[in-house]
Amino acid sequence: MLDYGLKGAAIIIAGGASGIGRAIAGLAVQQGCKVGLIDVNAANLKTALAELATGGATVAGHCLDVRDEAAICDVIALFETELGPIDGFVNSAGISRPRPAVDLTADDWAAVMDVNLAASFFLSREIGRRMIPRGKGSIIIISSIDGFGGHAARTHYTASKYGILGLVKSLAIEWGRFGIRVNALCPGIVDTPLLRGNIAADHIEKVMEDRIPMARLSTASDQAKAALFLLSDAAGYVTGTSLLVDGGLTAGYLTHLNGADWGNGAPV
Ligand SMILES: NC(=O)c1ccc[n+]([C@@H]2O[C@H](COP(=O)([O-])OP(=O)(O)OC[C@H]3O[C@@H](n4cnc5c(N)ncnc54)[C@H](O)[C@@H]3O)[C@@H](O)[C@H]2O)c1
Repeated sequence: MLDYGLKGAAIIIAGGASGIGRAIAGLAVQQGCKVGLIDVNAANLKTALAELATGGATVAGHCLDVRDEAAICDVIALFETELGPIDGFVNSAGISRPRPAVDLTADDWAAVMDVNLAASFFLSREIGRRMIPRGKGSIIIISSIDGFGGHAARTHYTASKYGILGLVKSLAIEWGRFGIRVNALCPGIVDTPLLRGNIAADHIEKVMEDRIPMARLSTASDQAKAALFLLSDAAGYVTGTSLLVDGGLTAGYLTHLNGADWGNGAPV
């Protein structure tokens, strides 16, 4: 197993009870990290903590809606008493609420922007306040390929994911001198409950075959490996950037013609 050099590091993961966040937590535990989870889903959180603790890992968790700014401050303070100084933070809490633009309500807009974007800031602010005096730390916010292009029925989601790219750039500029790195991880199409809940299985298969150069969906594990890289010293000079982990999906505008004949007889 690749050693990311993170043994003993305290890593907090918001949205850590499912999908990408859960995979990051699993890999972090395998690497010998102390892991703190935040999630709004109490049942999944309980299960994740029990699974992660098997084998004696140091884990802690708090059930919290990341839209609750005051609770964020309390919980981050609690994690420091439970796990010690925080070395890394990942925000993987996110919702999409797909809806055609003409039907999108103020509630849809506010929910998606508050969970995906505003909470990313308030969580980072609270973590940053604690990392700055210690002069080190790595923060990752999960954006998306939807931070790089439009997506029908996801106006609000796409706006929130573009917003995250601006948020990480500004924090990286402000906190770089304090030794704190802030980056966005931008997954492609990842096989998680969020994806399966929103898109029909046959459509997922078609997208995979037609559009993804690597001809497979991303696993949550693909994303976890990239997150651990960004958390580690191997990424010690990487800040303010957006790491696309999408199997080449956004690399070219003609990738939707995977396998098509372009007229010279050679399938591409
Ligand atoms: N799955 C994909 O294909 C994909 C692609 C690109 C980006 N992303 C992004 O990756 C992140 C993780 O997505 P996932 O696919 O792992 O989804 P998921 O639904 O499996 O996990 C998201 C977790 O966030 C938690 N959460 C949601 N709202 C919360 C709130 N208000 N407070 C606290 N926790 C909350 C959920 O309970 C869940 O455990 C999201 O930001 C998502 O937009 C996912």
